Amino acid sequence: MTAVTEAMRHQLQPYLFQDRDVVRAHVHSFGCQLNVSDGERIRGMLIELGYTMTDSYEDADLILFNTCAVRESAEDRVYGILGNVKKYKKANPNLILVLCGCMASEEHTAEFVRTHYPFVDIVFGTASLSRFPQLLLEHFQGKKFACDTGEYDAMYEGIVPSREHPFKASVPIMFGCNNFCTYCIVPYVRGRERSRDPEQILNEVKQLVADGYKEIMLLGQNVNSYGKDLEQPLTFAQLLRKVNAIPGEFVVRFMSSHPKDATPELLDTILECPKIGHHLHLPVQSGSDDVLRRMNRRYTVEKYMESVNYLRQRDPDFSLTTDLIVGFPDESEADFQGTLDLIRSVQYDNIYTFIYSKRRGTKAAEMEDHTTDAEKKNRMERLLALQRDIASEHNKRFIGRTLRVLVDGESKRKGRLVGKDSAFIIVEFSGDPSLIGTFQNVRITEARNWAVLGELVEEEQA
Ligand code: SAM
Ligand code: SF4
Ligand code: F3S
Repeated sequence: MTAVTEAMRHQLQPYLFQDRDVVRAHVHSFGCQLNVSDGERIRGMLIELGYTMTDSYEDADLILFNTCAVRESAEDRVYGILGNVKKYKKANPNLILVLCGCMASEEHTAEFVRTHYPFVDIVFGTASLSRFPQLLLEHFQGKKFACDTGEYDAMYEGIVPSREHPFKASVPIMFGCNNFCTYCIVPYVRGRERSRDPEQILNEVKQLVADGYKEIMLLGQNVNSYGKDLEQPLTFAQLLRKVNAIPGEFVVRFMSSHPKDATPELLDTILECPKIGHHLHLPVQSGSDDVLRRMNRRYTVEKYMESVNYLRQRDPDFSLTTDLIVGFPDESEADFQGTLDLIRSVQYDNIYTFIYSKRRGTKAAEMEDHTTDAEKKNRMERLLALQRDIASEHNKRFIGRTLRVLVDGESKRKGRLVGKDSAFIIVEFSGDPSLIGTFQNVRITEARNWAVLGELVEEEQA
């Protein structure tokens, strides 16, 4: 059943098209790929209602910000943009302003927006996607501040996404998180873990492959705990094998994996399924057992290294990426040295680094912190400098080899293209833009800290 029913369209369209033939909507998603994926479903609903999408604020009849709350900077950015769009509302009082996503899922934020940004018309949380058309109707019927920060979206399956990328697609497999890492707001804004029905997931992937999509990204806050809440439990590894068995040339990626749930069954599945690259994004957060304990991550550095060693024993070139937080409350210099040691031992292909940001309502927000901001910045710079050295050395392992690359687009350097191999290695080479969206073989000739460079290998004609 679709989320935008005929009855809803019938009720809304007289309001939308009372004095015009075209109504335009601008949708901007911030934050992680799950949020971007929600944004695609919101666009899908707007299109079904009759909206045309626009990139500009000027000609929009509806502007929607799908927000992120993971760090303070993400929230500040949204407040700054809201201040800016106020002028469009002044110029066009019929403009509808909508705030949704993770920030909007916190009741105190919804209340703050109502009182400080009274020109915002509609607010809804991450569990209320399918109720958006209903809120729009309430707005047109005269409700001043239509708000829904409710708990569970029973109608999610009925929402048809309007995808932004022509050959890469994200498929959420589960929502929410049960882990309550002490620094993290996500469990508060996305609720408890809920797995999607495997048949729905597999049908979505089959359709995407039939439509020509070449990269399928399975998404969840902790995909490794997929399926535990299903009536007929299925492990994430079992789901991966089913996705891998779908015919066609495409790559399967997934994120994020929690190290505490990285079972040998999952690691073997990654190693054995040809459509899954030899890559794992395994967020470690810190290389200090004491910090990991205070973060409530529920693994030690030793346990983490067992997974790394398991993978690297089977494939010494196995690619690993991670997330790291610098400056968790009272992180000592010794703790930070533990993180530097860890990245030296693992030899990551890429790291995503964040300075700790205090989130209201989380346990870490109550912890004392004596480390100065200057010290945290300095640690971040040292971490990045070390990773730059590691990556340029580590990338040399590909020189002389041929990688099969899905061509993503044009590089910043003229005449050059960029793409990724199945293990997420960034590859740059000279080629014609008509190759974008195809798989190509590239022989690697040079290594840099951000990518490897190479030359196209002409495919032999059959
Ligand atoms: N569920 C994923 C996991 O456990 O790895 C991560 C999801 S979170 C949206 C992405 C990353 O943001 C985290 O891995 C962490 O490094 C970072 N992060 C989360 N909360 C943060 C905070 N309060 N301050 C700084 N970084 C944070
Ligand atoms: Fe946040 Fe931890 Fe859940 Fe990841 S696993 S979303 S870091 S609480
Ligand atoms: Fe941000 Fe929400 Fe994702 S807080 S990182 S958009 S789950």
